[in-house]
Amino acid sequence: MTKPLNVGMIGYGFMGRAHSNAYRKVNHFFDLEYRPVLKAACARSADKVKAFADKWGYESIETDWRKLIERKDIDVVDICVPNNLHAEIAIAAAEAGKMILCEKPLARTGPEALRMVEAVEKSKVPNMVWYNYRRVPAVTLAKKIIDDGKLGRIFHYRSQFLQDWTINPELPQGGTALWRLDVEAAGSGVTGDLLAHAIDLAMWLNGPIAELNAMTETFVKERKHNLTGKVEKVGIDDACAFLARFQNGSLSLFESTRYARGHKALFTFEINGEHASIAWDLHDLHRLQYFDHRDEGIVRGWRSIHVSDGDHPYMGNWWVPGLQIGYEHSFVHQVADFLDGLAKGTLAQPDFRTAYHTQLVLDAIMASAKERSWKKVEA
Ligand SMILES: NC(=O)c1ccc[n+]([C@@H]2O[C@H](COP(=O)([O-])OP(=O)(O)OC[C@H]3O[C@@H](n4cnc5c(N)ncnc54)[C@H](O)[C@@H]3O)[C@@H](O)[C@H]2O)c1
Repeated sequence: MTKPLNVGMIGYGFMGRAHSNAYRKVNHFFDLEYRPVLKAACARSADKVKAFADKWGYESIETDWRKLIERKDIDVVDICVPNNLHAEIAIAAAEAGKMILCEKPLARTGPEALRMVEAVEKSKVPNMVWYNYRRVPAVTLAKKIIDDGKLGRIFHYRSQFLQDWTINPELPQGGTALWRLDVEAAGSGVTGDLLAHAIDLAMWLNGPIAELNAMTETFVKERKHNLTGKVEKVGIDDACAFLARFQNGSLSLFESTRYARGHKALFTFEINGEHASIAWDLHDLHRLQYFDHRDEGIVRGWRSIHVSDGDHPYMGNWWVPGLQIGYEHSFVHQVADFLDGLAKGTLAQPDFRTAYHTQLVLDAIMASAKERSWKKVEA
């Protein structure tokens, strides 16, 4: 018999759907001691959250997140709302003794994130941040290859996250659909939204970033604000590029933008080591590119590993070798790891403290871009 774990979901947008799908699927594919129960969904509009709850099978609704947190029948609070709400909800949930699964970036700034870390550590509640790309099987395989030492000493790490959806200067900022363009709601632009993922993966795969030098640009300086109806200054970064040095001595280049015409979500990384290199690309997410200099010369070349065999990470839980899975499965894997960790008492990563380190890199990027200087990342 599995043990029920009652989920209270806050937000029903993109991530509310991605997580609900993961909760519904996880026990069909993974053998786990715990079973998520979709207990309550919460958002401000009763009609909309009721429609969401009915569609996904949530047992009840709330229109005030404080009420959800007060409920005795909620074990886990899942935070799927804009970034400016993460801290207040997470701190209240921690004080109420709830487990917390929070979307990324953990917060808008390092100090805001630190308050969240302190709250969960004081209450000792299990916590996790949804940096889901760690659980794309090809990315998890990259981690195993690096940890096994196949690359040898790492020299270079480069990563990009490119989109093109904000080029139109007539696009407004703020409000329900466009909170990502409003600095008050989002904290930053592509840095917190997209580079946060690139940095989480980079530090997981290649260790801490020691120092960096960044530049940011806001190409469209003013946009109409959906909440005030007035044309207002745009406070987010539309694009960001930075150079960094990792603590292990490797050099790196990161780039992110929402102005790369033709790219919808091109998230890539390439790592070059002494013996071998690996590369990954979200548009072809089930493949890992691998080059090993130790191969016999006449057959040496980049191999494209189709990460779909039973002995590849997570894949033994899905179909048969050769059949691939997709984006949504990274969330299923993250829930599976969280539940497994709960049963074993070894909590899944990244937790709030790990995600706080990513937040410190984000802060260093913003400070470096503003001051046009190299910044050490706070240890
Ligand atoms: N892990 C990932 O890859 C990934 C992808 C997208 C978004 N995110 C993160 O997920 C979070 C949500 O993003 P999204 O794309 O799902 O946004 P979204 O705009 O699609 O959904 C936001 C939801 O929050 C709800 N909401 C807003 N204010 C609220 C309040 N006061 N009380 C209750 N509900 C409220 C809205 O009704 C909506 O349902 C953000 O932190 C974002 O950075 C992560």
